Amino acid sequence: MRRAVSKAIFPVAGLGTRFLPATKSIPKEIMTLVDRPLIQYAIDEARAAGIKEFIFVTSRGKSALEDYFDWAPQLEAELRRKGKTELLEILKSTTMDSGAIAYIRQQKPLGLGHAVWCARRLVGNEPFAVLLPDDVIAAEKPCLQQMVEAYQETGGNIIATMEVPDERTDAYGILDADEDMGTLVSVRGMIEKPAPGQAPSNLAVIGRYILTPPVMRHLNRMRAGAGGEIQLTDAIASVIGAGGKVFGYRFRGQRFDCGSKAGFLQATVAFGLARDDLRDDFAEYLREITALGRAAQ
Ligand code: UTP
Repeated sequence: MRRAVSKAIFPVAGLGTRFLPATKSIPKEIMTLVDRPLIQYAIDEARAAGIKEFIFVTSRGKSALEDYFDWAPQLEAELRRKGKTELLEILKSTTMDSGAIAYIRQQKPLGLGHAVWCARRLVGNEPFAVLLPDDVIAAEKPCLQQMVEAYQETGGNIIATMEVPDERTDAYGILDADEDMGTLVSVRGMIEKPAPGQAPSNLAVIGRYILTPPVMRHLNRMRAGAGGEIQLTDAIASVIGAGGKVFGYRFRGQRFDCGSKAGFLQATVAFGLARDDLRDDFAEYLREITALGRAAQ
């Protein structure tokens, strides 16, 4: 039996410029899909995968995130007084056990690889998960849980992957596949944002990883790569060069890129339609406005 994956890093120190002006004063991860902030989806997914320690790499202006996971005695007392037990139950999922959550600062936004490296002392010498909360994945079995199960079988480093159109490779880290075994793809290299036509495959890296201690050791030595940032993909690629195993994992589920406006809107519609309390009225509304749109053309 391999060592359990019990720690997860949530890198949330980016500036979120694609959502300005909103992100001038609220962290991107607090933006809500229906009524839950993006970060809640990531935390729930990590919990389902057996994660016990949650490490946030934050930056200036992210205190709303810390408050979100804190106990809210006044609010709870008020809800109790009014007999709102359902809402009290919903609030429970937002409070973390004492000591289960840690926040560290990435002082300068030097890239995702650097953000992960900032958590090195908290992670220590064990496998760890990385979740980017702006990738929201709707799945029957939560994506990270699928990956932890795969890790227990194969070991090595596991990266969530999905196929993207050839002309979109320049928006992702792309896998250079060695052997395609279906759900798992053995990887011999990775390239950050290759131009269309120069990509070794159309298997894109998505924001869920299970990584082993050598990746952290490679991050110790990393220099800035594509875009002047310290890239996580470069550190993973170096591990392959040193004989480490890396697998792409084709997860079962639908991924929404909530770091982009179009992806966020799509997720809002999908999660709205998935809710029993909203579905009928919302679907009716969507039918009406699509018909109006067609009539206007
Ligand atoms: P993005 O590339 O989406 O950057 O980062 P961003 O700053 O969040 O958003 P835009 O592009 O300006 O709109 C992917 C993930 O990596 C984290 C981000 O917080 C996000 O979760 N990240 C990125 C860091 O923690 N530190 C960094 O230096 C860069």
